[in-house]
Amino acid sequence: DWTTGNVIEEQVALIREQVGGKRAICGLSGGVDSAVAAALVQKAIGSQLTCVYVDHGLMRKGETEQVEKDFVAATGVQLKVVDAQERFLDALKGVSDPEEKRKIIGREFIRVFEQAQAEIVAEAAEGEDVAFLVQGTLYPDVVESGGGTGTANIKSHHNVGGLPEDLEFELVEPLRKLFKDEVRMVGQQLGLPDEIVQRQPFPGPGLGIRIVGEVTKDRLDLLREADAIAREELTAAGLDRDIWQCPVVLLADVRSVGVQGDGRTYGHPIVLRPVSSEDAMTADWSRLPYDVLAKISTRITNEVADVNRVVLDVTSKPPGTIEWE
Ligand code: XMP
Repeated sequence: DWTTGNVIEEQVALIREQVGGKRAICGLSGGVDSAVAAALVQKAIGSQLTCVYVDHGLMRKGETEQVEKDFVAATGVQLKVVDAQERFLDALKGVSDPEEKRKIIGREFIRVFEQAQAEIVAEAAEGEDVAFLVQGTLYPDVVESGGGTGTANIKSHHNVGGLPEDLEFELVEPLRKLFKDEVRMVGQQLGLPDEIVQRQPFPGPGLGIRIVGEVTKDRLDLLREADAIAREELTAAGLDRDIWQCPVVLLADVRSVGVQGDGRTYGHPIVLRPVSSEDAMTADWSRLPYDVLAKISTRITNEVADVNRVVLDVTSKPPGTIEWE
């Protein structure tokens, strides 16, 4: 019988058998898959596992803290956090082209991760062989990598599971037979926080590809605030399960005239992109209740400096992709 309890028991036994007395490394992205994979491996081999979290500064409000505090509290995992915010900002300086941004973020991510990996190997005690790399590969990823269809051909995708094959390490992939909803159930049973287990899809390059224009610290902070408001109101309205995801996008290179208080403003628009979808290959724009949209718009324009307009994206996919970049 398929139960989450059985899956966990079976995987824990398999992981123990595979890893033996050696050590393993797992990259955490803040997303469901890597979190559940890490929690399973932690349950199986405890302190033989070290997790790595690269803080690229492109996460949404509160997400880094969720990994650093809540995930660690729930699992007791050993975590190495690499603060690479400056490095990513430097690398992205002056870059507006979406593909260029994706490539830079992917490249820097791999460099920082590999450096952390090397440090863990160097720090390991004599006789402690660091031989395994944990990845949150799901069943659909396994199937898709055979066909190679999908958005990966349109945009260069980046996620933690997409690290280049490293011959130094053998892979541990405890989610290989599972679908997303099953992974969420396993995560829940393992006691992971809801914010992680129920998290909607979020791209590896993060807010870096939700700023149309150059990525700067100020723009990231601004977008983080707007995004947090939209998420808060969607959750408060009970809409999280109805929408697939809702990218919030800053049009940093666009300004429009507005009026606030008794002055003329010249600020940036924020785009709301709520979509419904089954698999992100196609999507429709979500018909959100007007009062929820109104609340989000009022709050963002009142609370986020330099934003004087909120617009709604009513394009399906195709022709529009879900993300703007
Ligand atoms: P698009 O914009 O291509 O997005 O319609 C389809 C889905 O993929 C997510 N997305 C990414 N996920 N790394 C990821 O892990 C990426 O580089 C990436 N780019 C887009 C997007 O959020 C949507 O769910």
